Amino acid sequence: MKKFRLLLAVFIAFSIALSGCNGKSETSSGDKKEEKKLEIFSWWTGAGEEDGLLALLELFKEKYPDIEVENAAVAGGAGTNAKAVLATRMQGNNPPSTFQVHGGQELNASWVAAGKMEPLNDLYEQEGWMDKFPKDLIDMVSVDGNIYSVPVNIHRSNVLWYNKKIFEENNLPVPTTFDEFFDVAEKLKAKGITPLALGDKEPWTATHIFENVLLAKLGPDGYNALWSGELSFDDPKVKESVEIFGKMLSYVNEDHSSRNWQDASQLVAKGEAAMNIMGDWAKGYFVNDMKLKVNEDFGYVPTPETDGYFMVVTDTFGLPKGVKNADDVKKFLSVLGSVEGQDVFNPLKGSIPARIDADLSKYDQYGKDTMEDFKNSKLAPSLAHGSAAPEGVLTRVNQAVNIFVTQKDVNQFIDALKTAAQEL
Ligand code: BGC
Repeated sequence: MKKFRLLLAVFIAFSIALSGCNGKSETSSGDKKEEKKLEIFSWWTGAGEEDGLLALLELFKEKYPDIEVENAAVAGGAGTNAKAVLATRMQGNNPPSTFQVHGGQELNASWVAAGKMEPLNDLYEQEGWMDKFPKDLIDMVSVDGNIYSVPVNIHRSNVLWYNKKIFEENNLPVPTTFDEFFDVAEKLKAKGITPLALGDKEPWTATHIFENVLLAKLGPDGYNALWSGELSFDDPKVKESVEIFGKMLSYVNEDHSSRNWQDASQLVAKGEAAMNIMGDWAKGYFVNDMKLKVNEDFGYVPTPETDGYFMVVTDTFGLPKGVKNADDVKKFLSVLGSVEGQDVFNPLKGSIPARIDADLSKYDQYGKDTMEDFKNSKLAPSLAHGSAAPEGVLTRVNQAVNIFVTQKDVNQFIDALKTAAQEL
């Protein structure tokens, strides 16, 4: 018993000593350093994703060698895990110095509404950014005239990627409508080639396909009206979209639920599947990781019936309230928002720069085409990537999609969407 008490006393003393070391207010030089570290939180760890971030961090290091940076990325496509970690930290008043957040509802309904973000209007003024970012984009990161984050890029999500060799060898046209898509898919299937690659181990990838069908069938106005609550999910076009989506799912690889988006893109890259519907981070993956050539090994078109529409995904970074190194965060944001910053990041990431004055020569044909399309298209914010609706709605839609993928019950799915929409 005595021995046990002694052990307990030693344990308690040790715990107290340890907790003392962790105190952020301590003045030991180690702790000061901890506070000064610039912690950059994102989900860019994976193949094709981290190259852009590392290049940006490198540029920042060149400009500010004295600021210590910590790359605090949490793996998982579309922020599957990072968003949960972030939520815990934000709720515990322990925010990272700055974090990746999609413009639109993910930023505004979650963090701005909760009073967790600092406005950055002064930074925009100081850097002369007001006319350097498209107004639509500034609006996506603003609430009541206050601007809350800096967009590093614009990804397009409504892209159909295809393996050129498969289409050429089988003498098939690249589909631009759903009729053409199913025609081509049937022919490919008959030849034993998987028509559409899917990796929905993380369910957002299936939501990603579904939202592009909604965009096609409803157009940007109808699609936007769904998320503003003005259009009901009872609309016949929603049903038509669900049926098309269900039919598309009958052409995917059997092992879809054990793959992530990179593994699915890999099927297209290796010629094991013909097509893939994914945002243009897939281009980063094809080029950086699979060493493929744009328009030689793979091609791209807007997803069926979305030509002239641009589903927008924008990654942005802001300044959480209460961080100790706000000045350093602003320095990072100023590099991220500069032409130079955007032009080291985006050619690797697959996205186009958020700024309108980037150096075109740094971008490949895909980037050039996409910049042109962005200017000339009707824009729609992505649901799967946080912009169209609050996080709670997206979580429910992802769950409903996940069930639909296995059960294919159209009415049950629409009911689940209607339930999700109650939270709008
Ligand atoms: C992000 C991209 C990222 C993709 C896959 C999207 O939500 O906006 O930057 O590459 O998810 O993780």
